[in-house]
Amino acid sequence: MRLTLVVGPGRVGRTLALAHARAGEEVLLLGRRAGSWKNWARRSGIQPLRGRLPADAAPACILLAVPESGISAVAARLAGELTPSRRVRFAAHMSGLAGLGPLGPFGRLGFRIAALHPLVPFGSPIASLKALQGAPVTVLAGPGAARASARVVRLWGGRPWPLDPCIDRRRYHLGLVLAANHLTALLGWSEELLRPAFGDHAREMAARLAGEALEGIRRAGAAEALTGPVVRGEAAVLEAHFRSLRPDERRRYAAWIEPVLDLARRSGRLSAGKAREIENLMEAWRRPASPGGGEL
Ligand SMILES: NC(=O)c1ccc[n+]([C@@H]2O[C@H](COP(=O)([O-])OP(=O)(O)OC[C@H]3O[C@@H](n4cnc5c(N)ncnc54)[C@H](OP(=O)(O)O)[C@@H]3O)[C@@H](O)[C@H]2O)c1
Repeated sequence: MRLTLVVGPGRVGRTLALAHARAGEEVLLLGRRAGSWKNWARRSGIQPLRGRLPADAAPACILLAVPESGISAVAARLAGELTPSRRVRFAAHMSGLAGLGPLGPFGRLGFRIAALHPLVPFGSPIASLKALQGAPVTVLAGPGAARASARVVRLWGGRPWPLDPCIDRRRYHLGLVLAANHLTALLGWSEELLRPAFGDHAREMAARLAGEALEGIRRAGAAEALTGPVVRGEAAVLEAHFRSLRPDERRRYAAWIEPVLDLARRSGRLSAGKAREIENLMEAWRRPASPGGGEL
């Protein structure tokens, strides 16, 4: 039976371990701390390991699902523990930022190496595995690794999406972080503001409205889909918002208006005069002695 080693029993690691176990592979899940993940792994037909690999373990596929900052150290340590083999083996990390450099120790052992980055926000393993079905997974493949990468991504149910090695991965990663994480934070705040009006339905109301906005973006692009007081140039409405907020919230709101104002300008639907008016308002609310009299 093919042996896969997944390192890092977090959100991504558990999901990918489950995918390989369900595909009939023998799976080792390696963590560094004790915890409930070990029982979860056993229940899921995955062998949990702590600390080191067994001396005779020779995984054909190694997936590093550890945070970005840990990839180099984990790769160097593991490569030192593995015995040389003539078989073609494969190692990948899941970071959208790191390139192939941190996987160098595996490359020097003859592994095919790749960065496989699923465009999915991971949560619980079962829900995340479902979300992976049909999802794009970008592939930055080292020499000879394209086929093995595509095979692994398909085993997860994902859609391999080869990435040009020349793109700036920092900007690529930020693009995804904005779409997934910043949107999530914004909706968290939206829910909080809507709670007095909708009580337990606040989350659903925020998510529903966001869903409609996303549909608009899919149909027509962000510039055309944008609605609201900024693109309408209604500085007085923004002023009312600022007055309703606590000082810490005002700072946050001013920061979030900036990209909205930028998009509104680029959409061609906001006049230069109205844009200046909104900019002046933001400036005023950012000053320590704000128009509302609060400290910003
Ligand atoms: N979450 C997402 O939506 C997502 C999406 C695409 C890609 N990714 C990428 O996937 C990777 C993992 O992200 P995640 O969200 O799954 O992170 P996570 O939930 O924080 O899990 C990381 C896991 O790695 C473990 N770990 C750290 N250092 C280790 C080591 N030296 N040996 C063994 N285990 C170690 C951590 O355990 P400890 O408790 O011991 O620290 C933790 O269980 C990251 O590179 C991330 O960029 C994440």
